[in-house]
Amino acid sequence: MTDRYCVFGNPIAHSKSPRIHALFARQTGQDLSYAAILAPLDGFAASVRDFAAAGGRGANITVPFKEEAFRFATALTPRAEAAGAVNTLSFSGESIRGDNTDGAGLVRDIAHNLGFAIAGKRILLIGAGGAARGVILPLLDQSPAATIVANRTAAKAAELATAFGIEGGGFESLAGRAFDLVINATSAGLSDATLPLPEGVFAPGCLAYEMLYGRETRFMAQARAAGAAVADGLGMLVEQAAEAFFVWRGVRPDTAPVLAELRKG
Ligand code: ATR
Repeated sequence: MTDRYCVFGNPIAHSKSPRIHALFARQTGQDLSYAAILAPLDGFAASVRDFAAAGGRGANITVPFKEEAFRFATALTPRAEAAGAVNTLSFSGESIRGDNTDGAGLVRDIAHNLGFAIAGKRILLIGAGGAARGVILPLLDQSPAATIVANRTAAKAAELATAFGIEGGGFESLAGRAFDLVINATSAGLSDATLPLPEGVFAPGCLAYEMLYGRETRFMAQARAAGAAVADGLGMLVEQAAEAFFVWRGVRPDTAPVLAELRKG
């Protein structure tokens, strides 16, 4: 029987996950289906329970349900615990295991696809919401020289940084400092807002990583103007999916052809 998986979100119509997982399944010869399910804003838990009761094996979770999924899971992996959010659920009997593959996806895209070694580098992580929190532990696991969190609301950056034993503050705390890897985990790009980054944050040879995809954001333009190499978040999207696929199936798909396919539109 075909194993069933899905992604829950709201909205969900434009999710690329069904296409990505269908390509993974075809490539690896795994017999599975993967659907996009719109969960009502006040009905996430019921939607997941229905899906699991109907024989669903696992689910991805996207905006705005990742924190609710974290609370809903009956067991958590250490990386989900650190992220405070869950993007991958696995159902087995009564157990609902929550995992988070976002950070692993980001690290894999940077280190493998983009060929940028994180060890020993100075990282600036911009943002202090769920997207930023989700990637800190996997980044720190790569042994960077230093990792700093900067956010519009300085207190949120300080709080998040303290939880991970690193430095954090407002954008003004970046004056006079330079970084080898600058990651934008804010949603500023969605509203075409410009981040007030002081001049010089992009060190020579810097990689600037925008977690959003599908648009050229102000952050990407800023970084390009400063001479940085620039990447968008499409690779992270494919890599977090591949990691979820591995969690469920024990098989690691080859992401390069899938990413190339998505880049075609
Ligand atoms: P997500 O789950 O995507 O991280 P979130 O938790 O709402 O969403 O966090 C959004 C992040 O983007 C926050 O760090 C937010 O900064 P504040 O904490 O100061 O609100 C940041 N952000 C959103 N719009 C921004 C803007 N125009 N300029 C700078 N930062 C912005």
